[in-house]
Amino acid sequence: MEIQKTYVMLKPTCVQRGLIGEVISRIERKGYKIIDAKMMYLNEEILREHYAHLTDKPFFPQILDNMTSGPVLGLIVEGRNAVVGMRILMGATKFEEAAAGTIRGDYASSTRENIIHGSDSLENAEIEIKRFFG
Ligand code: CDP
Ligand code: MG
Repeated sequence: MEIQKTYVMLKPTCVQRGLIGEVISRIERKGYKIIDAKMMYLNEEILREHYAHLTDKPFFPQILDNMTSGPVLGLIVEGRNAVVGMRILMGATKFEEAAAGTIRGDYASSTRENIIHGSDSLENAEIEIKRFFG
């Protein structure tokens, strides 16, 4: 049994669509705890850092537009195997691969606006928690 912390972010589309409560309920129902939360407006600098693996992609400007279109809610989520557990709860990145029953599968109809971010490894979880919560 490994208690981990992971970084989760409810993207602007999630906030704008009024889905904060729904998504947080699912995280809590899984048995995870929200141990910190922060509403933030992200700037290009922090997004270039956070999405460094995507800055060369042709669609990066659209990611920037989407992620700066309104506030995000950053969360630190804690629980047993929370890093992989949150990835499973979130569902696949691509909307056509996100299974029904997952957060993305149930609430997102586009890859760009897939409403939620979750760290993809324990190492990145630590980096992202530092990046967004200091
Ligand atoms: O968010 P996740 O870790 O599942 O995927 P990623 O590969 O790290 O990509 C980050 C975000 O970029 C995704 O969640 C999508 O919103 C966006 N993206 C996109 O718009 N189009 C793609 N072909 C790939 C990613
Ligand atoms: Mg990622």
